[in-house]
Amino acid sequence: MTDLPELVVGVGGGAATFKAVAFASLARQAGFAVHTLLGRGGRAFVRPLSFTAVTGRTPITTTLAVDPDGTASHLRPARAAAFVVLPATGDLIAKLAHGHGDCPVSLGALSAPERRYFCPAMNDRMWKNPFVRENVGRLEQAGWQRIGPETGPLAEGYEAIGRMTEPQDVLRRIVQDLEAARVLPARKAD
Ligand SMILES: Cc1cc2nc3c(=O)[nH]c(=O)nc-3n(C[C@H](O)[C@H](O)[C@H](O)COP(=O)(O)O)c2cc1C
Repeated sequence: MTDLPELVVGVGGGAATFKAVAFASLARQAGFAVHTLLGRGGRAFVRPLSFTAVTGRTPITTTLAVDPDGTASHLRPARAAAFVVLPATGDLIAKLAHGHGDCPVSLGALSAPERRYFCPAMNDRMWKNPFVRENVGRLEQAGWQRIGPETGPLAEGYEAIGRMTEPQDVLRRIVQDLEAARVLPARKAD
């Protein structure tokens, strides 16, 4: 346990997964106890050790993990101040929208706190796919807050909608919300 506000980061597996490491690092520097959930997709792009290095905590990489105190690790989000999924891939968005629990991220999301965010990142054609649109709508209707995607350079080498919002902007949005809700003390103006 810690007195720091807890932030759980569910990491998807895609071209923007490297940005999740930067986000986790920034969030720790901002004063959060950062826990990461990393499924098979995320692990294909970034090693768990990267998250251990920047958060000081070992990521959860299985749906069958148990904390040292005996609590099932997938219930950790329940006590967090906020839960954020980034990059939110088309696959993860579908799992979240349908309540699946077959990977650490979707399973953790089932006990996520009130403040839940997802940061989509995918090719523009995927973003416009009707099933993706429907799943995004389902999440928003269920109270998930969407951050992005932005229009900008995609991994495919052209500019279009689908680029993940930059980590510092995602963090700023979450911190602002937590300050407004008095979960975090408001910072003094410069
Ligand atoms: C090089 C490469 C890049 C990919 N980038 C993305 C992406 O940006 N967005 C996306 O939705 N899927 C992307 N995918 C497909 C996902 O990696 C795949 O659907 C994966 O199963 C998602 O895992 P997750 O559910 O853990 O996020 C990419 C696949 C490859 C091989």
